[in-house]
Amino acid sequence: SAIYLKDYKVPPFLIDKTELTFDLDEATTIVTSRLHMRRNPAFGKSTAPLILDGGEDVKLIGVAMDDYPLPAEEYRISEDKLIITATADEFILTCETLIEPQNNTRLEGLYRSSSMFCTQCEAEGFRHITYYLDRPDVMSVFTTTIIADESRYPVMLSNGNEVERGKTDEGKTLVVWHDPFPKPAYLFALVAGDLAVKNDVFTTQSQRDITLQIFTESHNIDKVDYAMEALKRSMRWDEEAYGREYDLDVFMIVAVDDFNMGAMENKGLNIFNSSCLLASPETTTDDTYLRVEAIVAHEYFHNWSGNRVTCRDWFQLSLKEGFTVFRDQTFSADMHSATVKRVEDVSFLKTAQFAEDAGPMAHPVRPSSFIEISNFYTLTVYEKGAEIVRMIHTLLGAEKFRAGSDLYFDRHDGQAVTCDDFLAAMQDASGVDLSQFKRWYSQAGTPVVIVTDAFDEESGTYRLTMKQDTAATPAQPTKLPLHIPVRVGLLDEQGAALSATVNGIAADDHVLHLTDSEQVFEFTGLTSRPVPSLLRGFSAPVKLRYDYSAADLLLLMSADSDGFNRWSAAQQLAVNELTSLIDQAIKGDDLSIDSQLIHGYKTLLNDASLDPAMVALILALPSQAYLSELANPIYPAAIKQARQYLKTQLAGALSTDFERVYHEHKIQGAYQATAQDIAHRSLKNMALSYWLESGSELAQQTVITQFESADNMTDQFAALSIYVNSISVNSIAVNTQHSKAAELLAAFYEQWQSEPLVVNKWLMLSASQENDNALATVKTLMEHPAFDLKNPNKVRSVLGGFGQSVSGFHKADGSGYQFLADQIILLNKRNPQIASRLCTPLTRWKKLQPELSAKMKAELERILAEDLSKDVYEVVSKSLA
Ligand code: ARG
Ligand code: ZN
Repeated sequence: SAIYLKDYKVPPFLIDKTELTFDLDEATTIVTSRLHMRRNPAFGKSTAPLILDGGEDVKLIGVAMDDYPLPAEEYRISEDKLIITATADEFILTCETLIEPQNNTRLEGLYRSSSMFCTQCEAEGFRHITYYLDRPDVMSVFTTTIIADESRYPVMLSNGNEVERGKTDEGKTLVVWHDPFPKPAYLFALVAGDLAVKNDVFTTQSQRDITLQIFTESHNIDKVDYAMEALKRSMRWDEEAYGREYDLDVFMIVAVDDFNMGAMENKGLNIFNSSCLLASPETTTDDTYLRVEAIVAHEYFHNWSGNRVTCRDWFQLSLKEGFTVFRDQTFSADMHSATVKRVEDVSFLKTAQFAEDAGPMAHPVRPSSFIEISNFYTLTVYEKGAEIVRMIHTLLGAEKFRAGSDLYFDRHDGQAVTCDDFLAAMQDASGVDLSQFKRWYSQAGTPVVIVTDAFDEESGTYRLTMKQDTAATPAQPTKLPLHIPVRVGLLDEQGAALSATVNGIAADDHVLHLTDSEQVFEFTGLTSRPVPSLLRGFSAPVKLRYDYSAADLLLLMSADSDGFNRWSAAQQLAVNELTSLIDQAIKGDDLSIDSQLIHGYKTLLNDASLDPAMVALILALPSQAYLSELANPIYPAAIKQARQYLKTQLAGALSTDFERVYHEHKIQGAYQATAQDIAHRSLKNMALSYWLESGSELAQQTVITQFESADNMTDQFAALSIYVNSISVNSIAVNTQHSKAAELLAAFYEQWQSEPLVVNKWLMLSASQENDNALATVKTLMEHPAFDLKNPNKVRSVLGGFGQSVSGFHKADGSGYQFLADQIILLNKRNPQIASRLCTPLTRWKKLQPELSAKMKAELERILAEDLSKDVYEVVSKSLA
C-alpha cells in the first residue's frame, strides 16, 4: 500500500504541548503521554475522528480524555492505529502504553544498546513509543520526565534543558527536560545509561556560552576529543557561512553502538553511531577522521536546516537532507582541500547515485510515492539533493545564495515546509528564475549531455552543441528538458587558459545555461581551435559525453586551471583504457595496454607541484563499482581482471617511481588528521600498493614492517589491506605467501580484539577477500565471536565486505547470491531497515551478464515468497517489476 504526495492534506488535529513520562525498567517500560490537542483550523470544520499512529509493539494500557478514562466504545485499535470516535475541539488526551525496549531489535523507537536506553525516531519511530500524530507537520513543545534507577542509569537525557531533578516515592530518580522549540516527534530523543561525559564550552557570536557535552560508555570517553573540536568548528562555521547561531543552552551528543544509520539530529541531543563519532590515532583511519568531522557537522547543521525549519511531509526529505549535505560538503571543503573533497563527493555520486538512478528503485529527489519511507533515505535524496542545492548556488552566485538562505530561514522559522518553499525563497531573494530548474526535484534519472563542437577559423568562432536526454525511469516514461548549468573553460594547445566571449561577456570561465533539448553556444574572439574543459567542478549531476582524444585528456590532466577537471580527465583516460581491457577480457583475448597511459602516469608521479592527495586519487583507478555502473551488461570477473591487469602493468613499468614516492611521502612526527598529512599518507600507501604489485621482495618486507611498526591505524590498516588484497601475493600458490596474509589478519585481530570499531574493519577486510574460499570465509566470520547479528555495523562490515568480493559474491553457481538472500530473509523481521539495505546489490540483476542475472533474479523471487516487512517488500517487488 503506497502513499502519494498528491494525497497530502494538513493534519486534522494539532498537538500544542506534549508531556511524556517514561518509567524505564529492564522488563517493561511504561510511557504516559498527555497531549494538549485541538482541531486544526487550517483543516476546516470537521467532526473527523482522531486517528493516532502506533505500532504492533505498543500495548495500550489506558486512555483518558480530559482526565476521564475513555469507555471502551469510544475508541478502538485497528491494526496500528488508535481511533477515537468523537472529540471536543480542544482537549487533553492521556495515553498509557507499555513497551519492551529490550526486545526491540528493529532499532526504531526506544531500544537498548549495550547497557543504555536510547531512541531513533526518524522517520516513523516515535509511534513505536506511544500513540501519536507521527508526522513532521505536527509540531509540539515537549516536556519529558524520565524515571529510572539512578544506580544503573545515572545519566538521563532528553531534548532541551534539564529543568528538574528529584526522587519518586519508590526512591527512583526523576529528571524533567523541557524543549521550548516546537518540533515534530521524529526529533524527540531520550537516553539513559551509565555514561561518561566530556564537557566543553562554545561562545557564540552574540557572546552566549553554550555547554557542549559528549557522552559515551566510560571506556570510550578518551576518543571524543576530535569530535568535540569538530563540533566547535561546525558551530563557528555555521555562524560565519550562514549566519546561524545555536539556540539552546546545551548541546549534547551521545554515542551508541547499535544504530541503523550514521547519526541523528534530535533537537539538542544528537545520537551517533559510535563508528561516526569516536576517533583516536591508534584505532581510527584518516578517512574515518574526515567522516567523523563531516557527520558531526551534518547533524549540527540540521539544527537550522531540519529542526528550526523542518519538512512538511516525508516526500520533502531532501529539503533538509540535500541542503544539509551541501552544507556539510562545503564545510569540509573549507576545512581541508576543496578539490579533493569535490573529487571524493563526485566519485561517490557517479558510482552509487548514478547506479541507483539507473536501477529499479530510481526516484526523483522529491519522490511522489513510497511504501516505506525508510527506503527513501537514499543517495538520490541526499547526494543528488545536495547537487541540486549546489546548482542553485552556481546559478545565483555566493552572495545571492546567502540572501536566499537568509530569507528561507527567516520566512520559515518554526514551520514545516516544502522543497517549493525553499526554491521560492531562493528565487525571491535573488530574482533568478528557477521555474524550469524546479524539474530537478520531480524528474528521476541521470541526464546525458552530449557535446559536439566546431571551430570556424575565419571568424574565430567556436561552437559547442549540447543535447540533453534523460532515459525513462520506473513510472516516468517521458522526460522534460532540465535547466543544466554547464561550467566551461577553453584551453590552447599549450594548456593556457583562453579568454573568449559568450553573449557579450569575455571571460576564462563561463556558466552556460542548457535549457532546451538541443542548444548551440558560441564563443568568439579565438585564434585557434581550443580544447574545451567541460562541466568544470562537476557543475551538474549529468553524464557528459564528448569525444576527447587521448592527447586532449593528457593536456587537461596536466594543465587545466580547474583541479576537478584535471582529475576528471585522468579518470576518463583510465576509463577508456579499462573499457578496452574489459572488452578484451570478455572475449577471452590476451590483455594489452597502450604505452601512452604509462607515460602519463610517469609524468604524474614525477610532478612535485601536484597535491599528493590528488595524485593518490588518480592512482586509485576507477573502482569495480564505478566500472560496473558504466557497463551494460556487467561482467564482474572481466572488470576485476582488467583492473588487476592495468594495476600490475603500471606497477611493473613504474616500480622505481613507486618506491621513490613511497619514501618521499613518509611523515615525521606524531599523527595528525590534517589535510596535508592525510594527503601524504594516502599517496605513500597508494605507492606502496603498486610497488608491492611489481613483485619486489623489498616491497613485501616494507609492507610487513609498516604493518608491525606503524604508530597509527591508517598506516597499519593500509599495510594490512595492501597485503591481503595484493594480486601478486595472492597469485603465488597457496603455501607460504597466502598463509602470510592469513597470519597478518590473525595478528591484527589478536592485537585489536577489544576495540569493536577496529574489529569491524577487520571483519570487512576479511569478508571482502578475493579468493576461491571467499564464501566459506564469510560463513566462518558469521560464526566468529566478534560477529553479532544484532549489531548493524557488524552486519554491514561482513555482508557489505562480502558484496565487494567478486569471487565470493558473484560466484558462477549463484551460491554467493543465495547466501546474501538467506541473510536478508533472516533479518527481514528482526531489523527491516537493515534487511532492506542489504538488498541493494541484488537490485542490479537486470544489468548483469545473462548467466548471473538469472541466478540473482531467482534469489529475489525466493525472498519475495517470504512474509516480508514493508521495507524489504518494497525493494524486492520493485526490483522484479
Ligand atoms: N536524519 C538523519 C541524518 O541524515 C538520518 C536518519 C535516518 N533514519 C532512518 N530511519 N532512515 O542525519
Ligand atoms: Zn541528515
